[in-house]
Amino acid sequence: MTAERTPQPNAVTATGSLAGRVALVTGAGRGQGRSHAVGLARAGADIIAVDIGRPIESVPYSLSTTADLDETARLVRAEGRAIVAAQADVRDRTSLETAFRRGVEQFGGCDIVVANAGIAPVTLDSAHPDVFRHVLDVNVTGVWHTVEVARECLVGSGHGSVVMIGSTFSVSGVGGDSPGAIAYTASKHAVLGLMRTYANSLGPQGVRVNAVLPGGVDTAMVNNPHSEDYYDRTGIGARLGSPLPVELVEPADITHAVVWLGSDLARYVTGIALPVDGGFLAG
Ligand SMILES: NC(=O)c1ccc[n+]([C@@H]2O[C@H](COP(=O)([O-])OP(=O)(O)OC[C@H]3O[C@@H](n4cnc5c(N)ncnc54)[C@H](O)[C@@H]3O)[C@@H](O)[C@H]2O)c1
Repeated sequence: MTAERTPQPNAVTATGSLAGRVALVTGAGRGQGRSHAVGLARAGADIIAVDIGRPIESVPYSLSTTADLDETARLVRAEGRAIVAAQADVRDRTSLETAFRRGVEQFGGCDIVVANAGIAPVTLDSAHPDVFRHVLDVNVTGVWHTVEVARECLVGSGHGSVVMIGSTFSVSGVGGDSPGAIAYTASKHAVLGLMRTYANSLGPQGVRVNAVLPGGVDTAMVNNPHSEDYYDRTGIGARLGSPLPVELVEPADITHAVVWLGSDLARYVTGIALPVDGGFLAG
């Protein structure tokens, strides 16, 4: 006779809901940042959204406008959540801090930070003389500023989670050697240095810090004549294929990873770099 099996208590209690949480998203005017703001709102969070809302002279494609950020705000409200949206440049700590404080005053705190703002001025035209400095300023110093302005709030939150948006170029060097591409790859490698350092320093205070590494994503960063020309004429685009039959993933695919890392479903996940790349990095 076989022994009767005692049913085990179901230990799965987390839902992934972000109800009552507040999330800061940088670069929220369009593309992945807009998708993260809307996705986090759909999961229940109120949103503090910032974007530069104007061009940067070394970036050959256009960046978001203030109208783009207004549209993000409209979409978040359509999810039934509140949003404080402000024009701020992540390179300028004071303007970022002012925008962040406005949100915290309205919502009473901040639990999730998505350091998403970034530039990728890859072009075969002659590069702007300041391109290297600008890329490092936005993609590295900007991420550092983003964590620092929110640090105190995150520590007091009890649910603090930082998600930095890296790239498959955070761990791969196949993006080519134009000045903008070198700077981009170096900057995204540096994001992992920030992520691991903060995972160690903020972990004992209950704050988790992770990175998501997107492969090619269908946004204006790659869908513009300069980037398309760069990837076509250098042949680099053809070498970025992945095992799964997908050329560019959707912003929503990155958002799903961001929402998971921001939630209690990932409560003991910190210090990881999670590729969402169709398997490109397995190659
Ligand atoms: N699109 C891709 O293929 C891809 C792949 C890997 C990683 N990424 C990363 O994903 C993130 C989002 O990029 P995306 O694809 O949505 O591109 P995107 O160009 O559509 O969005 C970037 C957003 O950041 C904003 N921004 C730029 N500089 C800023 C600054 N100094 N201060 C505040 N906001 C600023 C822009 O206005 C824009 O709204 C970036 O960090 C990017 O490097 C993109």
